[in-house]
Amino acid sequence: MLSKIDSLVKKVEGFSPSSKEELESFRLSYLGKKGHLTSLFNSFKEVPNEQKKEFGLAINNLKNLVQTKISSLKPLFSENNTGPKPDLFKPVKNSSIGSRHPISIVEQKIISIFNSIGFSVSHGPEIEDDWHNFTALNLPEDHPARDMQDTFFVQTNPDVLLRTHTSSVQVRHMQSNKPPIRTLSPGRVYRNEAISARAHCLFHQVEGLYIDEKVSFSDLKQTLLYFAKEMFGKNTKIRLRPSYFPFTEPSAEVDIYWGLEKESDYRITKGTGWLEILGCGMVDPNVLENCGIDSKKYSGYAFGMGIERIAMLLYGIDDIRLFYENDVRFLKQFSSTNL
Ligand code: PHE
Repeated sequence: MLSKIDSLVKKVEGFSPSSKEELESFRLSYLGKKGHLTSLFNSFKEVPNEQKKEFGLAINNLKNLVQTKISSLKPLFSENNTGPKPDLFKPVKNSSIGSRHPISIVEQKIISIFNSIGFSVSHGPEIEDDWHNFTALNLPEDHPARDMQDTFFVQTNPDVLLRTHTSSVQVRHMQSNKPPIRTLSPGRVYRNEAISARAHCLFHQVEGLYIDEKVSFSDLKQTLLYFAKEMFGKNTKIRLRPSYFPFTEPSAEVDIYWGLEKESDYRITKGTGWLEILGCGMVDPNVLENCGIDSKKYSGYAFGMGIERIAMLLYGIDDIRLFYENDVRFLKQFSSTNL
């Protein structure tokens, strides 16, 4: 009987089927009910006790051999191997390409307009200290104007806060650069405001600063007029209204003439036809001095605008929350936009 097992082992080792069917009949002839292994196990009963161990091992070896043989041959005849081979040269499926966020599109446009008249870009931290966000900007502790900018403080330390404007970046820039200075500071700012269609606790600003000898208010006005025409069209008209900011004197708010053609124009301009787009003014001499710039020799102007506000006007978006929800149905609409 051992020699029978031996010869079966040799057969199994040399077995090389050419079809799925051949492999299946091989499986049945060994592992099937009437197969070799069943009959070997049956005749095992007649083997004398002292030889049982040797026979048992030999039969089990044969069984394992058959099983590994079958599982190694099976993949050769599986569906995947018999079907058509994949076409490795097939072009990939077009995955949808993302689009730039409307806030970055508008931010880039604002930057490129000011780049063209010599402004460079500077960045600073979003987590600021009190001095850069307030004190240096002529807002000493307990100054009532601090309430204008509802501030988020970081934990319980009143000296650490989320910047409420990017004027803090300009303070840093003035400290480490000498006039002439012409810089833009775009970035995210935070204010503790109730979230609604018109306001959010975070938004984006671009602020600008120009410091040199003999910079005047008329330089500011011409620069802003140039900006408004580039941004909103060459027939755009602007007007400046007196305003108050602690860091500029005199200060103004700038409106563009939007018109009163459509019904919605009445709503967004409150019936006046004019829309506020930014705040500006001549840098207060105290601010220059705080930042180590001689206010007798130098003067400068500054301005700041909210990017969301401008994007909402340009695209006719009436809910600021849409910018932060990242709903692709909203964002997709800007995929081909090139301002
Ligand atoms: N920092 C002001 C704000 O955030 C904007 C501003 C900048 C106004 C520069 C005047 C001059 O509201």
